[in-house]
Amino acid sequence: MLKGGRVVDPTRGHDDVADVRLDGERIVEVGPDLADQAGDEVVDCAGLWVLPGLVDLHTHLREPGFEDAEDIATGSAAAAAGGYTAVAPMANTLPVCDTAAVAELVERRGRDVGLVDVRPVGAITVGLAGQRLAEMGELYDSHARVDFFSDDGIPVTDTLIMRRALQYAARFDAVVANHSQDMDLTEDAQMNEGRMSAVLGLPGWPHEAEEVMIARDLLLAAGLGARLHVPHVSTAGSVELIRLAKQRGVRVTAEVTPHHLHLDDTVVATYDPVYKVNPPVRTRDDVLALRAALADGTIDAVATDHAPHPHEQKDQEWDHAPCGMLGLETALAVVVTDLVEPGDLPLLDAVAAFTTRPAGVRDMGGHGGPIAPDAPANLVVVDPDARWTVDGRALHSRAHNTPFHGETLTSRPVHTLLRGRFTLRDGVVADPKVPA
Ligand code: DOR
Repeated sequence: MLKGGRVVDPTRGHDDVADVRLDGERIVEVGPDLADQAGDEVVDCAGLWVLPGLVDLHTHLREPGFEDAEDIATGSAAAAAGGYTAVAPMANTLPVCDTAAVAELVERRGRDVGLVDVRPVGAITVGLAGQRLAEMGELYDSHARVDFFSDDGIPVTDTLIMRRALQYAARFDAVVANHSQDMDLTEDAQMNEGRMSAVLGLPGWPHEAEEVMIARDLLLAAGLGARLHVPHVSTAGSVELIRLAKQRGVRVTAEVTPHHLHLDDTVVATYDPVYKVNPPVRTRDDVLALRAALADGTIDAVATDHAPHPHEQKDQEWDHAPCGMLGLETALAVVVTDLVEPGDLPLLDAVAAFTTRPAGVRDMGGHGGPIAPDAPANLVVVDPDARWTVDGRALHSRAHNTPFHGETLTSRPVHTLLRGRFTLRDGVVADPKVPA
């Protein structure tokens, strides 16, 4: 039994001190001052938050193919340490996740490791090449039940292919997420276009490059009644487009990363490639617009875009370094520190953005709450007062490329439970069920 924690369950709007009794894989009772029963293990949660296990719609686990950066075991350990019980790895692996065989392999390997449920994302096009649609129906019918498709960092530039993808996915009410980047507008681009790119003399990446593609995709989705998801929204203009589309009833959902909520483009003045990411970090005005959009629900979810890179690749001159940042182990703490603690986002809404809302974007397999009798015991217990300084080398990821290295954050997961089993206990990640 989890005793005396502040139970925050956005599915029921519940935020109150309560006990949570577990029996095996399930929650059996939630309420104040539950009587101890013989055989109950009591975990003291006084002063701690008890939340649904976190859900990440956008992760890179790099397996198969790029295990020098991360694999499903190390990425799952990072997820458990960050309070996640379900993650969705992107399709930009080798081989690409464009067949049922690869999706099933990734899902099964996640199950074998047993630290987090792994719900693969399928590619929109074969080999992420943007030419031919992947067998989306076969991916959906597979054991991995893929209901979310993306070519990840590569935009589907061909409007006809994008339209067909939305049309095909709509047949089984699946979701298509397109990386929003007009490649003509971003040729050689190295950072956000604006005052900082002018000062630093680096080729800029205009915000319109993101917005024109979102506008196109919103029009296509609206025309078809299809479901579009906008990944890693980074500009104030994108927020406006999504807000308008939602008002008009377009079936669109959107996510924002912790790094786009936290960093602005002044960090590029360090030329530290840890800050290089796609889409790039933008201006302070964009950061504030993203925060407001998360608070008012225009942006549904926080997603990490956890993108590990081996240091020999990432630690190069700025223009040679690959894009991407770690996120799984710091995401919740960044949002709590930046938004919840200062009073800009109620805790219930912050928790919803990590749990209920992403679980509503696609089927994440029984995650995201509720914390109620008969629900699977997918939970995270968080110490809201923990102050900790991020050390990239001490994270569970195989890679170290966190932009938060050296920053002091508030709040940290203490226990994570996946179907009643501790995957993180007293801050220590459990061993994988089946080692690599
Ligand atoms: O920064 C990024 N890194 N953005 C992407 O879209 C891809 C990702 C990666 O795979 O490293």
